[in-house]
Amino acid sequence: MSDTATVGAVKPRHIAFIMDGNGRWAKKRGMPREYGHRFGVKAFQNVLEHCDKLGLEAVTFYAFSTENWKRPKREVDAILKLMDTYLGECEKKIDDYVFRIVFLGDKAAFDEKRRARMERLEESTKNRTRVLNIALNYGGRDEIVHACNRLLDEKRTSVTEADFATMLYTAASPELDLIVRTGGDLRISNFLLWQAAYAELYFTNVLWPDFGPAEVDAAIAEFSLRKRRFGGV
Ligand code: FPP
Repeated sequence: MSDTATVGAVKPRHIAFIMDGNGRWAKKRGMPREYGHRFGVKAFQNVLEHCDKLGLEAVTFYAFSTENWKRPKREVDAILKLMDTYLGECEKKIDDYVFRIVFLGDKAAFDEKRRARMERLEESTKNRTRVLNIALNYGGRDEIVHACNRLLDEKRTSVTEADFATMLYTAASPELDLIVRTGGDLRISNFLLWQAAYAELYFTNVLWPDFGPAEVDAAIAEFSLRKRRFGGV
């Protein structure tokens, strides 16, 4: 991954993307939803490469939610197959990869082979500082309950916000600055509920397969104009 690019005065350290609109993008072309997901992966790769050039410290992608299992089996299988292909390629080129890979979500839902690969990728990149979070079988409420259960396992009787944050899947990432959602819907769909507390939100009608570096730059340019008060005046 290559040289640097800059946008705006105040740069975010951590951006998260809700990649929505693959199905509609495919439908507009008279194609099955799976076709949209295939182009969704290409958009993901383009956006990740751009975020690398921008020097972001952490970037998070909502690839598969705890609710997405309700989709037709054919579509679920297609998304997981695309994920397997991508992660297989990552594994082969892991030394060229700059990011620490972290999977957000409960891996118990996946079969042994897939889970083992996810764990190998996390383990082999764990000493890198910049983070790529891939949310897979992820739900924000599920993450909070999971963190509570970890605290209960430790028999903790009181905790601080900082303690709680160390139990979240995102413990390795800096504070979330910006959530970008494509596809036109104005909601966060159970994504990073704790982490979103002070994040800026950016919504665009662009469908995810059409989202690329120029759209990332537009989101960051808007972010840099926002006044963040974190509850102050
Ligand atoms: C939402 O669009 C998209 C998803 C639920 C899947 C996103 C997954 C990918 C882009 C593949 C990720 C792969 C890697 C390697 C990260 P939608 O299907 O809900 O679109 P719609 O709202 O138009 O129906």
